[in-house]
Formats: sequence, C-alpha cells, structure tokens
Amino acid sequence: MTSVIAILPSAVADQIAAGEVVERPASVVKELVENALDAGATSIDIAVEDGGRQLIRVSDDGSGMSRDDAVLALARHATSKIRSAGDLVGVRSFGFRGEALPAICSVSQLEIETALGDGAGTVVRAAGGSVADVTETARRRGTTVGVGRLFFNAPARRKFLRGARSEWRGIVEVVTSLSLVRRDVRFSLSHDGRPVLVVPRAATLRERIAALHGAAIAGRLVDVEDVSGTIHVAGLVERPSEVGTAGRRVHLAINARSVRDSGIVRSAEAAYRSTIPAGVRPTVYLELTLAAADVDVNVHPAKAEVRFRDRWTVERAVELAVRRALGTMESGATLGRTLWPASTPFMPRAVDVEVLRPRTNVADGIVTPNDEERRGPATLPDETPPEPDVPHLLQLRRTYLMFERDDGVVLIDQHSAHERVLFERFMRSLECGDTPAQRLLFPLTLHLGPAEADAFEAHRKLFERVGFEVEGFGGHTLLVRSVPMPHPRFDAERCLRETIAALTGDRDASAAPRHQRLAATVACKAAIKAGDILSPGEMRALFIALASTQLPAHDVHGRSTVVHLSWDELERRFGRR
Ligand SMILES: Nc1ncnc2c1ncn2[C@@H]1O[C@H](COP(=O)(O)OP(=O)(O)OP(=O)(O)O)[C@@H](O)[C@H]1O
Ligand SMILES: [Mg+2]
Repeated sequence: MTSVIAILPSAVADQIAAGEVVERPASVVKELVENALDAGATSIDIAVEDGGRQLIRVSDDGSGMSRDDAVLALARHATSKIRSAGDLVGVRSFGFRGEALPAICSVSQLEIETALGDGAGTVVRAAGGSVADVTETARRRGTTVGVGRLFFNAPARRKFLRGARSEWRGIVEVVTSLSLVRRDVRFSLSHDGRPVLVVPRAATLRERIAALHGAAIAGRLVDVEDVSGTIHVAGLVERPSEVGTAGRRVHLAINARSVRDSGIVRSAEAAYRSTIPAGVRPTVYLELTLAAADVDVNVHPAKAEVRFRDRWTVERAVELAVRRALGTMESGATLGRTLWPASTPFMPRAVDVEVLRPRTNVADGIVTPNDEERRGPATLPDETPPEPDVPHLLQLRRTYLMFERDDGVVLIDQHSAHERVLFERFMRSLECGDTPAQRLLFPLTLHLGPAEADAFEAHRKLFERVGFEVEGFGGHTLLVRSVPMPHPRFDAERCLRETIAALTGDRDASAAPRHQRLAATVACKAAIKAGDILSPGEMRALFIALASTQLPAHDVHGRSTVVHLSWDELERRFGRR
C-alpha cells in the first residue's frame, strides 16, 4: 500500500507557518519594526501604501547586516538573538524565533537593502520564499525592508484582507504601541506618500502620549508608580473625573513588550471601584516589570500575549498600584501633604478620626441639629495621632470649604467630601461589621410600600451592618431600634427612607457589588448637604477625615471633591503675567 502521509515541500510549510505570524499588514509592520528595534535603531521610518496591501517599507539606522547574514535572515529558524533554549528565559530582544522574515517572505515580494556601515551594502530580492538575486548597493548604515503585494501567491488569504482603511488603522495601532514602549526611538509613519505621524524621542511616557495624542489627553492622566515584591508597576491612568468623556485607550507593556491581557486591564479597572460609574472604562497605560522567570513570553504566535507564573499576584499588584495612584493623585496628595510629611508614602486611614463626631450623648430619639453643637468645636477622640497641621478653612456659599496653600487655592465640596468619608467608613463597617450604632429610646416606625419592603428585605443584613437595627412590625411596617450616628445633624429616618427608595427598583443589579451600592447610597443620603452651615471645628474635622480617606479627590460618583486653582492660573486671569 502506498503511504498517504507526505512531508510538505518547505515552501508550503513556510506558508502555513506564515499564517500564524503574518495575519494582516499590521503584523508585518510589527515584525519589521521589532527587528529594527532589536538592531539598535534610534530612528525608524515606516511607509505604507494602500493600507499595507501594496507595500510596507521599514527603514532603520540600526546595525545592518553583512551580505551573508542578509541572505541567511530569510531562512527559517535563522536568528542572531538566541543560541539555546535557555536563552529564552528573560530574552530581552523582541525577536527570538527566527521565523518572521521567512514567514513574510513566503507570502510576499520582499527586498532587503542593508549595510553594516555607510558605503557598501547588499540588496536581496526574494518572492514567495525563494531568493531571486543578491546585488550590491551603496547606502547608509542600517536596513530597509520592503514587503510588496502581501499574499500575492495566497489568493485565499488575500481575500481575507480588509479594506485599506481598516488595515491602515491596524498599522497605526501597532506603531503606536511600539512607540509607547520604545520612547528612546524616533518614529515616522506615512500612508500613500502622506506623512501621518512623526514622534520625536521622548524622555517620559507622558511626553510620548502628548506627541501621539496631544497634550490635553496627556494632561488627563495621573502617574502610577508602585512596587509589590518583585513586581514594578508604572504608567499613567485617567483621572476618575475625566473617565468616559473621551475615547478610551488601553496600553499594556510587560517587560518592555506590548501585549494584550484582559485580566490585567480588569484589575486596573477594579481600582476605580466607587470612583466612576459602573460600565464606564478608564484609559490606562501600564508598564509592568517582572522577574524574567515569572513570565513566559513564548506562548503566542505573534507574541501578543504572555503567561504569568503567578497571575493572581500580578493582578493584585496592578490593582493596588492604580488604587494608590488614584488615592494620592495631585489634588488628594497635596491635600494630604498639608497634613503629613511628604515622605509618608500613603495616607494613613482615619479609622479613629470621625468627622463631625457627635459630642453629646444623644439617647432621646432622633438627633436634630442643635445650634450649640454647631458653634462648639468638634473634639477629636483621644487616640488621634499628633494634631495635624490643618490650614485655615473658610466656608463659601454654605457649600464649599476653601483654604490657601503654597501653590494656590483649594476648594472642597463639603457634600462630596463627606460622602467620600462616609462611604469608606460604611464600607469598612460592611466588611468588619463594627459600626457604632445609636440605640433609640423611642423606636421609629416606618411604613413602606410592597416594593420598598422587598428592597429593604433584600438588603436587611447590610443595613444591620451599617448600624440600622430593624424589626418587622407586621405588614410593611418597620420598627427601627438603632441607627448609625455619622454626625450630630444626621436625620436617620430620612436617610433610611431615601436609601430604601433609591434601592427600590434599582435595576443596576449587575454593576457594582450590592454592599458597595448600599454604602454609596447611605453615604450620599447621610452626608451633610450643600446649604449646611459648618462650624470651624466641623470644617476641620471634615478636612482631616477627607485627607485620611483612600481616594480623597473623588466622591462615590466619580466627581471631584477637590478643585485646585493655582496662583499661576489666577495671575493669568488677572493679567499679571
Ligand atoms: N532590520 C534589521 N537589522 C539588522 N538585522 C536584522 C534586521 N531584521 C532582521 N535582522 C536579522 O535577521 C534575523 C532574522 O529575523 P527574523 O525576524 O526572521 O527573526 P528574529 O527576529 O530573530 O525572531 P522572530 O521570528 O521571533 O522575530 C534576525 O535575528 C536578525 O539577525
Ligand atoms: Mg524578528
């Protein structure tokens, strides 16, 4: 019997392999630019015609190749970057498989022009995987690789190419990611002879983003910089108050490779919990550095994904880093700096510092605002850390607190700020269940509609944890025996009613976890309002409590709690400069 199995001719095998590496024009651009970067280029020019379907040309000023190497580069498994499998661990170059050029060559008309130094160089022409001729040329040091008529010999694959515009978008994306990773290199990109993008070398990620997308976009971002064990997380993420107002961008680099990883991106997003509405996704630029042994880069044909040895730890590190960045972002951080030495890396939590803490032992039912209390200074508990340095605070329009700082004026929205403070406190109560509650001498009765009663029942446990002790009283009537006491003028009955009403018919069930929504709602209803006059002591206590929260700069809806007006800005407005 004749054998039915046959070894494929190498040209066919190469074409099949090419399917994995070369999917679209953008993948060719990626491979060629990565090769240029691996060759030590400091300047890379990319020219594309017809969305890369007709021509892709990448020129670099890197090391160049000798005549022999230029020919060898087109052979499969020919690489100058590793010598053994062991070299794969922690490999620093983009390339290591010796696959890209032969794969591209097998499905295109390819030309390499290269020189080791200024002067004598080599031109190699090949098509469909075989070298047609090798000639001499004169050129500058470096390499230019031209890829013409991609898939000219693979009609089935050519049919799968999308329109020029769509392929072009893919190319822009690839060049953008690589230019974010390698900010030390100048890039230019042109389409059908039109220069589209020129990015000069940049010192920082922010500078590069500004060159790519404009200074306004770059200005919306806050720095991330954090170390957890051996994991270093750096980058820039969007201010919560800006999220959702412009297109979203996501960039992730791991050990200086641009990769996709939805798990990491989700962890970064998790850090925004309670600062932005659910479903709205922030722009994030993240750069992770891990020990070489903790990440495997050789798991995806186009190296677009990596595998972690311990994914959970990496995701946690990312969430923590972003959370810290948001918690100490400029407005919040400067607010905190007034209180604690600049060296304090992270603001302490104000577990003991209660804002607008009740001074009288109220046991006679619901507390009502009391003028005497308003005037008297709020006393802080004894165990309070050393008296912080609180600036002189002014209340404006019964709505804002204002104070002066070295670099300008800061305004705090009293309701948003208090809401943030209470939210974090209620979240802690929900997690630990130790809310100081106030037992009422005369229980409150609350009559609810059927839908409201259902909403209450669904959240009963959570209500109890934040300090509402409630008994059913037949029908839809509730008997409230204890209430939380977040501040002296807290109207428990109103807060409970409003919170139940807000939770009734709340169809947003899948978004934020239920306890978080409850904490946010109670915090919103319980917080002091715009229009409440605050005593100096209350302002002070609010300031301290806000500075001690994890995310002082934002309320639970993601709005700013703090606005900073710099002296520069004021001077500009007054025409002083
Ligand atoms: N622009 C360039 N400048 C200098 N040398 C280059 C350039 N492009 C390719 N080479 C050489 O050709 C070799 C083959 O390139 P190719 O992209 O096929 O493989 P690789 O980069 O080693 O690995 P991978 O397949 O993972 O990309 C490289 O190892 C490098 O030595
Ligand atoms: Mg390569």
